[in-house]
Amino acid sequence: MMKKRYLMAPGPTPVPPNVRLAMAEPLIHHRSPQFSSVFAEVQNGLQYLFQTQNEVLTFAASGTGAMDGAVSNLLSVGDKVLVVRGGKFGERWAEICEAYGLNVENIDLTWGEAVDPDAIAEKLSTKPDIRAIFVQAHETSTGVKHDVKKIGQIVKDFEDTILIVDAISALGVFDVKTDDWHLDVVVSGSQKGLMLPPGLAFVSISPKAWEFADRSDLPKYYFNFLKERKSLVKNQTAFTSPVSLVMGLREVLKMIKAEGLDFYFFRHRLLAKATRAAAKAMGLDTFAKVPSEGVTVFRAPDGIDAQEVVRIVREKYGITIAGGQARLKGKIFRIAHMGYIGPFDIILTVSAVEMALKELGHALELGAGVKAVQEVVLKEWKEL
Ligand SMILES: Cc1ncc(COP(=O)(O)O)c(C=O)c1O
Repeated sequence: MMKKRYLMAPGPTPVPPNVRLAMAEPLIHHRSPQFSSVFAEVQNGLQYLFQTQNEVLTFAASGTGAMDGAVSNLLSVGDKVLVVRGGKFGERWAEICEAYGLNVENIDLTWGEAVDPDAIAEKLSTKPDIRAIFVQAHETSTGVKHDVKKIGQIVKDFEDTILIVDAISALGVFDVKTDDWHLDVVVSGSQKGLMLPPGLAFVSISPKAWEFADRSDLPKYYFNFLKERKSLVKNQTAFTSPVSLVMGLREVLKMIKAEGLDFYFFRHRLLAKATRAAAKAMGLDTFAKVPSEGVTVFRAPDGIDAQEVVRIVREKYGITIAGGQARLKGKIFRIAHMGYIGPFDIILTVSAVEMALKELGHALELGAGVKAVQEVVLKEWKEL
């Protein structure tokens, strides 16, 4: 039997119909003038999206590829680095740095908490040989936003230290002002705020970070920033471009530019607020101390396995939400509101979650969460 399916997880997110059509166009060759013209347009759009004058490199990879490349291209053998470990993706930064044999120091947070920028300032003042700070703009596993603006203010005064930000689930979702906030390196991917299938990874690199790339001596081959920079001058990538995804990206960037970043951010902010209101109305606590606009993380009520909520919502009602990762498995579930998502996607997801919770024995009045979403949307929604 046909089941209508919905993607409400923090990546991959739904792809708009016009973007799917753009990706279905006949292939063009990646060394052709037609492709270079598309890629030039995309480069422009990426700079708008990243709010930067820096070069933005594009790779055929998932976001982790760009994280890997950022480490291998910007650091050197034995360098000391500082990693904010506040969730699964903070752990990933540390794992990649360890894989390259770097001297890794971590700031370990209780999951659900945001890093205190002063803790970074303190580390840097006692250990000025720290070459890079690694952090998430949005730690998707906990739903927490880290204050990368404040961290940028701190790191910019250290001449020989760069700030490397994972904005994989932040870019296009909320403000990430690469240049104004002194974010030397910003990494992202295609399958979240950018409304594309997985497969594209991006890195923006500041002039200060390019100096690090010039002297980096870690082993590297596919992810080679200097090589990509040379190709970028010709509006090409060093290796075969993921042509169809780039065609889709051009369409996405056109949409975002037409509506303006502020409108995108407003929409995400409102959906996040409505989803948090639903949590409260359903008698559930949210997990993140500083919640992001991209995902709302619900604590499962006592005695209820969050994985069961996720399973029922997916198997019975066709809606994919996300469970908890690693140590949070069974304890939380996550509803994403990033990318091509509107208020009615939230309403139907919340209604399915209510039914699943009721089935599992949580005392709630059906419709309470839905009503809370409706009230926020009724009051604050606006169209362009
Ligand atoms: C904050 C963050 N970092 C890194 C990743 C990993 O990206 P990918 O799965 O595209 O390699 C994700 C995706 O889930 C993420 O949300």
